[in-house]
Amino acid sequence: MIDKTSVYAQLRRDLTAVFEGERDLIANMANCSALLFQSLPDLNWAGFYRTIGSDLVLGPFQGRPACVRIGLGRGVCGAAAANKKTVLVPDVHEFPGHIACDAASKSEVVIPLIDRGRVIAVLDLDSPILNRFDQADADGLETLVAVLLESSDL
Ligand code: SME
Repeated sequence: MIDKTSVYAQLRRDLTAVFEGERDLIANMANCSALLFQSLPDLNWAGFYRTIGSDLVLGPFQGRPACVRIGLGRGVCGAAAANKKTVLVPDVHEFPGHIACDAASKSEVVIPLIDRGRVIAVLDLDSPILNRFDQADADGLETLVAVLLESSDL
């Protein structure tokens, strides 16, 4: 079995390669969501919500059509944005206010994208398996988000 540290180290190299020569944030978010969705097992959704005004608005993603607009502080995405912290949810049914875009989703992780103290977007991954994401995923995904931010014009 390959350990998660190696998986995320490889993904970091792959992301750096797909971002090469391109600094458009939306284009890089699109390729990031595609790479994660293709590479990580047991996902049913991977994508971004961007901060627009006081809402999080659906951005580039892979998976089924999803809720378009999430109000400030609402759902797992809103909680990650409001607290500027990664949120790991082992069982979405235990998370008060979880927004169910797909009934198949059972666990979730959301990572905020922070530019100069402001949350400009969040990365959201959903899984049809309970307890799919752990601290190693949170740490690995945070390094990938850092690569995305460094590689893009904000
Ligand atoms: N479950 C999220 C909403 C977004 S979808 O999972 C794609 C939430 O509670 O914020």
